[in-house]
Amino acid sequence: MKKSIKVLALILAAIMCLGMFAACGTGTADKKDDEKAPAADNTNDTVAEENKANENENEDGNEVVEDVTYEGTYEATIKMATNAAFPPYEYKEGDKFVGIDVEIAKAIAAELGTELDIVDMEFDSIITSVQAGEVDFGMAGMTVTDERKEEVDFSVSYATGVQSVIVAEGSDIKTLDDLAGKKIGVQLGTTGDIYATDDFGADFVTQYGKGADAVIALQGGDVDAVIIDNAPAQVFVSENEGLTILDTNYAVEDYAIAIQKGNDTLLNDINKALEKLTLDGTIDSIILKYISAE
Ligand code: ARG
Repeated sequence: MKKSIKVLALILAAIMCLGMFAACGTGTADKKDDEKAPAADNTNDTVAEENKANENENEDGNEVVEDVTYEGTYEATIKMATNAAFPPYEYKEGDKFVGIDVEIAKAIAAELGTELDIVDMEFDSIITSVQAGEVDFGMAGMTVTDERKEEVDFSVSYATGVQSVIVAEGSDIKTLDDLAGKKIGVQLGTTGDIYATDDFGADFVTQYGKGADAVIALQGGDVDAVIIDNAPAQVFVSENEGLTILDTNYAVEDYAIAIQKGNDTLLNDINKALEKLTLDGTIDSIILKYISAE
């Protein structure tokens, strides 16, 4: 009798857990439905069609990828260079590295049968450290550009970034053209830095070590605008009073992992791992965990 009560309690607990998962799941979907009903419907249709077409799927509609064989043999750890001042891609919570790139990199390391070792550095040192072979790869919300492609190889892209403009609320800067002649803050060596310097001239661009420092300068009135990737822009604006993001995209970019030129084994293995983690839904769920669907 006692035993069966215990069993019943266990079953109830299990059902409640499942219920909670389901609630979590629909929570995200509901948000989407409210704001973008037609888009959400389309998504469902496509998923449903794909379900019919593909039998190798799990209950989430993601593909179950058979075991992938990797070419390389890896040491106990694999080293990743990053600049952990770029939420939600990489940042620190206490001593811990967290964020989208950190979690994707950990999943890749697990695929390759090794563990991730993070080396935090200035953003503009990442490529040189990859080139010098001091680290195995660089992952830092890094945009693929033709110039960088001459210095390192890039994996397939795993995310999209958009360069955005942050201004003070009520600023007279309303469009990209209004930036002419204004003081612009950027993170040193980023595409925001490169584009702003090309388009508006180095005299008008102030480079900061971290995006967050550019944002502090904006709040203090030292610069009139900050150009930075959209996802960190949203984090910085939500954490700092009186700032807003212009409703205009400066540039749309692909993020990828930087690997030493000629290290094709690692490049192929990372690409295979990224492909597997994309198909099985891991990458989407990591991104969704940090960036809520609009
Ligand atoms: N996407 C931009 C670039 O590649 C900015 C990346 C900055 N990343 C960072 N972890 N600070 O230039």
